[in-house]
Amino acid sequence: MNTDLAPARLSAAASPAGTGPFAAYEARVASGRLDRDPEQEKAARRLDQLWRELRDYHPVVQSAPPAGGWLGGLKARLGLAGHPPHEQARPRGVYMVGQVGRGKTMLMDLFFSLAPVEHKRRVHFHRFMQDVHQRLHDMKEADPDLSDPIPPLARQIAQEAWLLCFDEFQVNDIADAMILGRLFADGVVVVATSNTKPEDLFQDRPGADAFKPFIAAILKEVDTVILDSPRDYRRGNAPGMQTWIIPVDAAATKELDSIFDRLADGAPVVPVTLDIMGRPLRVTRAAGPVARFSFAELCGTPLGAGDYLALATCFPNLVLDGVPRMGPDNFDEARRFIVLIDTLYEQNVKLFASAEDRPDAIYAKGQGATAFERTASRLEEMQSAAYMQLPHLNA
Ligand SMILES: Nc1ncnc2c1ncn2[C@@H]1O[C@H](COP(=O)(O)OP(=O)(O)OP(=O)(O)O)[C@@H](O)[C@H]1O
Ligand SMILES: [Mg+2]
Repeated sequence: MNTDLAPARLSAAASPAGTGPFAAYEARVASGRLDRDPEQEKAARRLDQLWRELRDYHPVVQSAPPAGGWLGGLKARLGLAGHPPHEQARPRGVYMVGQVGRGKTMLMDLFFSLAPVEHKRRVHFHRFMQDVHQRLHDMKEADPDLSDPIPPLARQIAQEAWLLCFDEFQVNDIADAMILGRLFADGVVVVATSNTKPEDLFQDRPGADAFKPFIAAILKEVDTVILDSPRDYRRGNAPGMQTWIIPVDAAATKELDSIFDRLADGAPVVPVTLDIMGRPLRVTRAAGPVARFSFAELCGTPLGAGDYLALATCFPNLVLDGVPRMGPDNFDEARRFIVLIDTLYEQNVKLFASAEDRPDAIYAKGQGATAFERTASRLEEMQSAAYMQLPHLNA
């Protein structure tokens, strides 16, 4: 057997007993190591539930028989010694699915590091399957009379590690599916990441019907958690930077300070004056590829499309403090804000703003509120990883 596939035997004491995945996730968000992501929070809460269930769960697993035969029948406990050998309700596993770069692996690794289980194993799914095939082969070779090696292998696997964390679960092979469908019956708890929902595995392929019992078996063991956040954290030129920060408070200002510094990348902060057809437009805070304004400076004074276009072509990034929630009395500001956002959007300018509310609630009532729906939609799109990757148009 490949030794680097041996299960991790980490001491339960290695992880602080009181820190679950949700608290650990929140701590990383609070310290700025991770961006807040409601979809990840949802997944972290589900993993936290499993973490708590695992603290109270002591599986009873059929022991592997001594060398020379698969007698089975012997009950051996895994985990804590002295626990009465009765079968407890096994916690349901978690199957995290989502597009690339949504943080599935990051969350699973966080969970794995904290899981209060001595016998746990985290492995890439393809490597796990290679290991399974190797062992099935070895078992048949050692005992040619062995008619069905899967039940004893299932027991072995469960004995070595009854918490199995699979990265990149993806089954394309019907033979693998049939093995897997029977492999996890022996008390193991499975956590997995995947780009494919269980019910979509093997879809539209010949033999898909034969796959159905396997899918049913997975769905019986795990809860599917979908990570549907709009951001691919691997992409974009602004990893770790929020683009629309709610609410407008000291923390938001601090966050925008740090974004401004990162984008400036050491360039000095200087005032710049742009020439708008002979008329000066003063930018009080410019640093290399980024300019910073308050909402009042940009939309509370009589600026127009020409001013916004000059800014949008000159600066690839704009930091905007304090977008207010507006109503019927703020028509002028709302109208300018619509023009500003349209102009930034057309030039692919990256906007980093603090705001009192979500884009669609910024100007929900008042003259021109219908036109604002498109602005809100653009503001949403401007937060996406795809938009963040677009090249700035400076002409
Ligand atoms: N909330 C976040 N804030 C900042 N960085 C994050 C956040 N979530 C994930 N990342 C980082 O983004 C990168 C991609 O995350 P991860 O590898 O977990 O994605 P994944 O969903 O497993 O993607 P794939 O489907 O391609 O395997 C990692 O470097 C991760 O640390
Ligand atoms: Mg991954």
